[in-house]
Amino acid sequence: MTAPILQVKDLSVYYNKKKALNNVSVDFYPNEITALIGPSGSGKSTLLRSINRMGDLNPEVTLTGAIDYNGRNIYSPRTDTVDLRKEIGMVFQQPNPFPMTIYENVVYGLRINGIKDKQVLDEAVEKSLISASIWDEVKDRLHDSALGLSGGQQQRVCVARVLATSPKIILLDEPTSALDPISAGKIEDTLYGLKEKYTMVLVTRSMQQASRISDRTGFFLDGDLIEYDQTKQVFLNPRHKETEDYITGKFG
Ligand SMILES: Nc1ncnc2c1ncn2[C@@H]1O[C@H](COP(=O)(O)OP(=O)(O)O)[C@@H](O)[C@H]1O
Ligand SMILES: [Mg+2]
Repeated sequence: MTAPILQVKDLSVYYNKKKALNNVSVDFYPNEITALIGPSGSGKSTLLRSINRMGDLNPEVTLTGAIDYNGRNIYSPRTDTVDLRKEIGMVFQQPNPFPMTIYENVVYGLRINGIKDKQVLDEAVEKSLISASIWDEVKDRLHDSALGLSGGQQQRVCVARVLATSPKIILLDEPTSALDPISAGKIEDTLYGLKEKYTMVLVTRSMQQASRISDRTGFFLDGDLIEYDQTKQVFLNPRHKETEDYITGKFG
């Protein structure tokens, strides 16, 4: 059996006194897509943000437990968050390209890391945009503003921007819910294709999306991880009544 690449252990997260995640333990496996589902406010985004240490700058956030990446707790004081975010990238619900050219968006992380060689940057741009399935659409306008692209194209540029830093894990927080169905489908296909090389954790409101592209699914309710299993098991034969009610649309 393959070893997990990321292990969340007994994680609880508070915003001041409010508990948003309650002793959650979950293992993520390499080259899989894990879908996180559950109603609004159930703690899905809090879990994703915790994996990227995005609560670090918010004095209201307290966290107990551990998140081991490659066997080391990312919350250990020795972890450099800049390095961590190179390995664990994140894509958000609203496409958020920077107000710069498509090219500069993609090389942003590389420039921060001091890479200046034009050939290296050019290659990274082409490779990342190809992997994000948007190269053909933008190859003749790399030096135009990314803000001139459609929402779906912008989101694929954001995926390319993450890929350019060669991450191992990509966290995606409802990456298609602000997009029209055709653009959403393109992102979905892109993510499916990226499984070969990356591990993904995908928060989604779409049960169809979770069942189409994920290998495992976790169902959250009020900060608890109620059920976590192979996606087929969760959707075809859920063990908990709450899971069944949610996936059949009884609430949420
Ligand atoms: N920055 C924040 N400050 C205070 N409370 C927050 C913050 N972010 C989320 N919460 C609360 O934490 C709980 C979980 O939220 P969240 O992780 O965003 O859930 P989900 O992504 O499943 O909708 C909710 O009750 C939400 O109101
Ligand atoms: Mg959320």
